[in-house]
Amino acid sequence: MNEPFSPAALAFRDDGTLYSPRHDDIYHSAAGALAQARHVFLRSNGLPERWRSKARFSIIETGFGLGINFLATWFAWRDDTSRSDTLEFLSVEKYPFSADDLQRAHEAIIGDASIMPLADELVAAWPALAPGVYRLMFDSGAVALTLVFADIADALRQALALNVDADAIYLDGFAPAKNPEMWASANFALLTRLSAPDATFATYTSSGDVKRALVQNGFEYRKVRGFGGKRAMLVGKRASIREESLCDALT
Ligand SMILES: C[S@@+](CC[C@H](N)C(=O)[O-])C[C@H]1O[C@@H](n2cnc3c(N)ncnc32)[C@H](O)[C@@H]1O
Repeated sequence: MNEPFSPAALAFRDDGTLYSPRHDDIYHSAAGALAQARHVFLRSNGLPERWRSKARFSIIETGFGLGINFLATWFAWRDDTSRSDTLEFLSVEKYPFSADDLQRAHEAIIGDASIMPLADELVAAWPALAPGVYRLMFDSGAVALTLVFADIADALRQALALNVDADAIYLDGFAPAKNPEMWASANFALLTRLSAPDATFATYTSSGDVKRALVQNGFEYRKVRGFGGKRAMLVGKRASIREESLCDALT
C-alpha cells in the first residue's frame, strides 16, 4: 500500500461500519466504535486511573481515522475530576478524511449525543488536507491534539523533534495482514524512542508479526480477551531494563 498521501473516501458496509476500500478493512468494530475505543484503548492502557498521578499525560496513536479514540479519550479526561492538568495526544494519518466527510462519519458512527459537541469542535478545527504537522488546541489549551499527516514511518520520525514522551500508545492501523507497513518493526523502534520508560500500549490485534516486532523493540506483551467477539488482543508496556544488562552495558 505504498501510495502517496491522499484523502480517504467515505464508504460504509451494509451493517453501517465505516470501511476503507483502499485497505479492504473496517475502521472500527461492528460492535461499536466508541465501546471499542473505551475497551481496547482506554481501559487497556489503565485509563483514566493512570493520568491521575501526572500533571501532563501524553498519548501517541498510529492511525487517526475518524478520531474516535481521541474523542473517547478527551471525553473521559474531561469527565474525570482527578485528571492530569493537560492531555497531549499525537496521532499520525496518511489518508485523512475531508472535514465534511469527517462530520458525516461522526454523525453516522458515534451514536452518543454527549460526545457530539467534542466531535463538532474537532471538525471545526480540522486542518487542510496536506502533509504536515498540525497542532489543534481545545479546552483553553489544556488538551492538545498534534496531527502528523504523513506516512507512518515519516510521521514518527517527524515526531522525534516534538518532545512526545508518550505515557500510552494506541496501535490502531488496520489489520497487519492488510496493511503491513503500519506495523513494521522500524516503527516500533521509533515508538520506543517516543515513549516514556513506563509507557503502556494496547492494540486490537494479536498478530504474530506484531508480537515479534514488539519484543524486538523492547516491549512486553500479554494476550487478553479482545472486543466484540474477537478472541484476543495485546496489551503491554515498555520492558524494564534488567540491572544485570545495565551492568553488562557499563563494563
Ligand atoms: C483502523 S483506522 C484508525 C481508527 C482511528 N484510530 C479512530 O479512532 O477513528 C486505521 C487508520 O490508519 C491509517 N493508515 C493506514 N496506513 C497508514 C500509513 N501507512 N501511515 C499513516 N496512517 C495510515 C488509515 O488511513 C486509517 O485512518
